[in-house]
Amino acid sequence: MTATVAVLRGDGIGPEVLESALSILGSCLQVRVREAKVGGEAIDATGDPLPEETAEICQSSQAILLGAIGGPRWVQPIPAAHGLLKLRQRLGLYANLRPVRHLNLPTPLREGLARHADVLIVRDLAGGVYLGEPRGGADGDVATNTWTQTADQVRRVAHVAFRQATRRRNRVTSVDKANLLETSRLWRRVVDEVARDYPAVFLEHRHVDAMSFELIQAPHRFDVILTDNLFGDILSDEAALIAGAIGVLPSASLGDGPALYKPVHGPAPDLAGRGIANPTGAILAVAMLLEHSLNRPDLARIVESAVNVTLRDVRTPDVGGKATTREFTEAVHRNLSWLRWAHTPAEDETETTASSEWGV
Ligand code: IPM
Ligand code: MN
Repeated sequence: MTATVAVLRGDGIGPEVLESALSILGSCLQVRVREAKVGGEAIDATGDPLPEETAEICQSSQAILLGAIGGPRWVQPIPAAHGLLKLRQRLGLYANLRPVRHLNLPTPLREGLARHADVLIVRDLAGGVYLGEPRGGADGDVATNTWTQTADQVRRVAHVAFRQATRRRNRVTSVDKANLLETSRLWRRVVDEVARDYPAVFLEHRHVDAMSFELIQAPHRFDVILTDNLFGDILSDEAALIAGAIGVLPSASLGDGPALYKPVHGPAPDLAGRGIANPTGAILAVAMLLEHSLNRPDLARIVESAVNVTLRDVRTPDVGGKATTREFTEAVHRNLSWLRWAHTPAEDETETTASSEWGV
């Protein structure tokens, strides 16, 4: 059956990186694409960063692929980014997975540390200061936001983190600010409770300020990092230094229905329209989509390898190269066809032996 994917190109470099990512998805599988507007482009068209039609298209698709959202044109009266917050709420997306691995790219971190780093940030999307009410007052003398966290929200996302850890290196680092915030003390208590269900997983706690230092000082020490909405947003951009650039990280937002995939990066208005945006994060988001929503981990691995092989010698300007988005994408396609050919099961024994000689 053909999969249905809602495609929200969004703002800034969103449409450019999605063009590239969709071409990769299309070369792996036949998909039915349903386009819809979100963020700034939706505000321009309808006045609403999440029009009802978009929400319905997303709800009735198998997965959602989003480019980027926001930009300086849409801060008042409603920030474009609210389109994404509303979409997460509407779809009940509560766990944001942000894998960060070393790629074939130079990183500013000490050689050796980044090479062995492989972390998965699991970020709560349901609670925290981004969503709490009351809020308001940006135009007056006193502005207010409310940081609310429920035990149920923490429990749900903590289970996701611990389950992921059991498939990885059995280690969870939970990040909070429990020396100051009540929300963090609740967080820590509930995470400790959930940990009892996973005796094989080692749990440690960190305050966010210490964590932001250690993540760069010793990134190879961490496996799954479990944290709240705001801290996860900040730490995931910081963790991009492990991979070498913010443009190369993907993310998946999971709930009980269709999941949403997007690169971690934002709209990068200074790069928009120039054809030089790095589509790696968007392409790796397609790999996550193939694995988590379309049950094709085999294709996901091949896409990841194709991207990593490509990064060795074809690079966009943000990672020190001169390639355009299109040139990079074409190179990924070429590597993808090689890898897919090498992975195709042969029809008889003789061919199996022959093709395995490629050693891929
Ligand atoms: C991200 C973005 C979003 C977030 C914004 C656009 C709402 O920064 O995906 O990291 O803060 O979650
Ligand atoms: Mn962010």
